Amino acid sequence: MHMYDVIEKKRDGFELTSSEIQFIIKNYTNGTIPDYQMSALLMAIYFKGMNPRESADLTMEMVRSGEIVDLSQIPGIKVDKHSTGGVGDTTTLILGPLVASAGVYVAKMSGRGLGHTGGTIDKLESIKGFHVEIENDKFVELVKKNHLAIIGQSEKLAPADKLLYSLRDVTATVNSIPLIASSIMSKKIASGADAIVLDVKTGAGAFMKNKRDAKILAETMVEIGTMVGKKTVAIISNMEQPLGYAVGNALEVKEAIETLKGKGPKDLTELSVELGSHMLVLANKADSIKEAKDILLKNIENGRAAEYFKTFIKAQGGDERVVDEPSLLPQATYKTIYYAKESGYLTRLIADQLGKAAMALGAGRQTKNSVIDLAVGILVHKKLGNTVSKGDPLFTIHSNNSDVSHIERILDTSFEIDNYEIKDSLILETIN
Ligand code: URA
Ligand code: CA
Repeated sequence: MHMYDVIEKKRDGFELTSSEIQFIIKNYTNGTIPDYQMSALLMAIYFKGMNPRESADLTMEMVRSGEIVDLSQIPGIKVDKHSTGGVGDTTTLILGPLVASAGVYVAKMSGRGLGHTGGTIDKLESIKGFHVEIENDKFVELVKKNHLAIIGQSEKLAPADKLLYSLRDVTATVNSIPLIASSIMSKKIASGADAIVLDVKTGAGAFMKNKRDAKILAETMVEIGTMVGKKTVAIISNMEQPLGYAVGNALEVKEAIETLKGKGPKDLTELSVELGSHMLVLANKADSIKEAKDILLKNIENGRAAEYFKTFIKAQGGDERVVDEPSLLPQATYKTIYYAKESGYLTRLIADQLGKAAMALGAGRQTKNSVIDLAVGILVHKKLGNTVSKGDPLFTIHSNNSDVSHIERILDTSFEIDNYEIKDSLILETIN
């Protein structure tokens, strides 16, 4: 088989066979196929696409390029959740203890943040002593005992995806739906999931700016999952504005704790319960979404979800007292309020800009090795559609530097106030 022929075939719009896809991934990973040929193929895929069968083959070849986590010692169906990313998305922190409290075993691999979207591990590390550096045996033991443990993502999962992603990044081929879908699904499958719940975000703050593309991505991932024998459900959720009110590591942990206790923001609670319900149904812990929602809401109300969070924090070395005393989390020295200069309705709240403001405060990584400030961030006081009066607080800047004028300039471009009220719905569609 020759790479030249495979490139030509895809260039002309034909379907690649399973053995051709196997050939490409194997030989690109071992260095036999050079970057220039792989780049040409990626561009051909960008223009000609791939059907679900090709995407499923690509996914599984990328899974096979590295280690596959073995969770067979943990009983039951292991359900994982993936979000296509967003600013202030604290759902993973909430979902872990929430679905664990309903009997699901959550063996979670998470990443650190890069750029202006935060990573779950960074957020958790704002709890004093908490760490994810645990051996695999210990990880499995903790999941069996507490129904929940989180470790860092292994470098050995889907190495082909890492190589391909770096190449896509510099050849303008990231934005291809079959490539994105295979990339995401390969990492979930390699991390040992039996079933997968996907949160595909759409809107100004998301990777997929319009709902049509978000829907095609969601459908493609559900098709891949189904073809490779992993039950997969996707919801499409709106990301016109950040979820909840907090953007920043410790601030988001505090918000997650409030949500687990039933005192969190409405949107964050709604999305967490929706995603959690699908996880319960896939794990056979509930027969219907309605039954699952009732179970989760009950566990929020009776304190069980918060108790599971405490047990989990303690088991990984953290100070579990933060659940009852969030003031134990890192606190920023300065709190500066940003006031509205006019009255009306909030018509835009741009998640990316808020993410950039948090990043400029030091909450996010500029490079892989940056040290981040866990205490800093932005608290939002108004959400889309809210009325605003001149002089109302719009944001509170939590900083460790007294001069926040450059942050205020970023915030100036993060919202719009106008004279019409907009309606914003959170969960747009479910695909299964
Ligand atoms: N996230 C991924 O993991 N892969 C992509 O290709 C795009 C987003
Ligand atoms: Ca938030």
